[in-house]
Amino acid sequence: MNLSVQLAPKHPRGLLLTNPVMTASGTFGYGTEYSHMFDIQKLGAIVCKGTTLEPREGNPQPRLAETAGGLLNSIGLENIGVRALIEEKAPIWAGWHVPIIVNIAGETVDDYSRLAAQLDGVAGISGLEVNISCPNITAGGAEFGASPGPAAEVTAAVRKATSLPLLVKLTPNTSDITGVASAVVEAGADAVTVINTLKGMTIDIARRRPVLGNITGGLSGPDIKPVALRMVYEVAGAVEIPVIGCGGIITPSDAIEFIMAGASTIQVGTASFNNPRAPLDILEGIEQFMIKEGVDDLTDLIGKARL
Ligand SMILES: Cc1cc2nc3c(=O)[nH]c(=O)nc-3n(C[C@H](O)[C@H](O)[C@H](O)COP(=O)(O)O)c2cc1C
Repeated sequence: MNLSVQLAPKHPRGLLLTNPVMTASGTFGYGTEYSHMFDIQKLGAIVCKGTTLEPREGNPQPRLAETAGGLLNSIGLENIGVRALIEEKAPIWAGWHVPIIVNIAGETVDDYSRLAAQLDGVAGISGLEVNISCPNITAGGAEFGASPGPAAEVTAAVRKATSLPLLVKLTPNTSDITGVASAVVEAGADAVTVINTLKGMTIDIARRRPVLGNITGGLSGPDIKPVALRMVYEVAGAVEIPVIGCGGIITPSDAIEFIMAGASTIQVGTASFNNPRAPLDILEGIEQFMIKEGVDDLTDLIGKARL
């Protein structure tokens, strides 16, 4: 059976994954936290926690709240910063065979560009994933990914600063997901990840206050799956580069739905908090489905539900 997927077909070096199961940024640390629990190198790729130029402590507590079918988080990009990542994490990754993709986040276009330049050529890093769900502080705090212009500006700046394969992670908090997708493709993205969390909130009625210290947070998990699936379906119909499906994937059949909607690979996020082995369980379930259905090549499933 062939489960391999080329995630950056237009890139000179490409980004070949042995299988379609990736981890979602912010839900799998730097990979090292999970490496004693199962053979994480069996996965297609690991996407690390969102990384900024300087270390960040994140938002005030509480930063997590469960919902009926998911999770609200307002972590606020707590991370060790790019220097520590290069000095402490990349040397470990350089000894692994699973590709590591570094997720980057910034407040200005220049932040993204400087991050990309610093990560270019670092051993152990196979690609970048650009989180464009961050507020653009030079434009009143609107998310870069909310409209095509700023999304393309960030993508073009990162493309210029690095020779690494480039994934751009789209936000669902836009009324123009296909317009944003097309704009980042034009600006040099090798693949698009669809989607990041949906903005939401929850209230503690006894305290008469929002539960999260930051008032609002990002909704993830099964609650968002139908929205994510719809966006993958739409984006896959609008662009000709690989789409990475993400949002509420808990079971192998969730993953197969995203692949049939047009995703070449998928990311597992919130599911890892309930079951740290979830990405591997999902991979094994996809393999079992292919055996049962007599499918020899994963690419034969991609987009198969598209009308
Ligand atoms: C606790 C937490 C932290 C996250 N941190 C990041 C991050 O740093 N960068 C990013 O691009 N996405 C981040 N995400 C979003 C996930 O990568 C993913 O896009 C989202 O959770 C939807 O997938 P899921 O429903 O499988 O969790 C985070 C999600 C959670 C739950």
